Amino acid sequence: MAGHKIKTLALVSSFGLSSFLAGSYYERKIAQDPPNLKKFPGLPIFGTVSAATPVSPVPSQTNVSRISQIMKYGFPGLDNIRSFDNYVLSYDKRNRVAHWVFEHITAESIKPNEGVDRSLCQFMPDESIHPYFRSLNSDYLKSGYDRGHLAAAGNHKCSQKLVEQTFYLSNMAPQVGVGFNRDAWNKLERYVRKLTKTYTNVYCCTGPLYLPRREPDGKNYVKYEVIGANHVAVPTHFFKVVVCETSDGKFEMESYVMPNQAISDETPLTSFRVPPESIEKAAGLLFFDNISRSKISKINGKKN
Ligand SMILES: *[C@@H]1O[C@H](CO)[C@@H](O)[C@H](O)[C@H]1NC(C)=O
Ligand SMILES: *[C@@H]1O[C@H](CO)[C@@H](O)[C@H](O)[C@H]1NC(C)=O
Repeated sequence: MAGHKIKTLALVSSFGLSSFLAGSYYERKIAQDPPNLKKFPGLPIFGTVSAATPVSPVPSQTNVSRISQIMKYGFPGLDNIRSFDNYVLSYDKRNRVAHWVFEHITAESIKPNEGVDRSLCQFMPDESIHPYFRSLNSDYLKSGYDRGHLAAAGNHKCSQKLVEQTFYLSNMAPQVGVGFNRDAWNKLERYVRKLTKTYTNVYCCTGPLYLPRREPDGKNYVKYEVIGANHVAVPTHFFKVVVCETSDGKFEMESYVMPNQAISDETPLTSFRVPPESIEKAAGLLFFDNISRSKISKINGKKN
């Protein structure tokens, strides 16, 4: 019986391997001899960089204890993790936008340092990401969208180096400028910073959503624009899930979803609160998995 199983396994795996090899041979053949790509107008055509080209990571001495402090209550997902000095990011290579970014902020950590000048920062491509999947400034140029920070620059103003690290394009998503990035979304970011006046530790996870919409045929479709030669996805919505920790170790959670569109100034932030589970299901992520939900005393202002 066991012998039979092993034999079958061997067969399956050798079949898998040979079809894999056949597949890679086929791919290489295509690479040498491109078929008529015009038949696939949505397929991006790049230069001659091979997907196997090694990418030199940005040299950085990451402070492991800072990273474990930021991620203390669990990773929402584990896809392409990139650690910066003061925030952690998971990158979605297909959409060229992060899945999520994670920050830990305190009154101390967001205290602006004199000498820190945001206007000196420049948006820069993230060289640690393979060129196939990297977004560029040219993708955003004339797209009509802002390069909107996921990890907010204002949360990292205690040093020039830290604020500069929020300007990598891997931390950006195409956001509607007027009425959203510069207004409603900014208001939410400022609100999160203000929580540090009340709570000892604030943990903030931010990311994009691509939500389905019902079309006239009665079916649900996910539809989003892509911009530039790299087809950077324009999220339909953005989320923030925030956990606040009191000095006596109590937790409160707040979670928000905002549509990527101009939002009227009068709309209160509370109207964007949604149950955290709905964001988890839509994003395919689990937030603060390392805090038992029974330990969270309030969710979106209501006793849990
Ligand atoms: C590393 O991070 C810890 C925790 O935030 C901090 O106390 C320490 O000063 C950091 N070390 C360096 C070298 O930045
Ligand atoms: C989860 O929490 C426990 C207890 O606080 C801690 O020891 C552990 O390292 C945490 N795990 C992760 C993945 O953060």
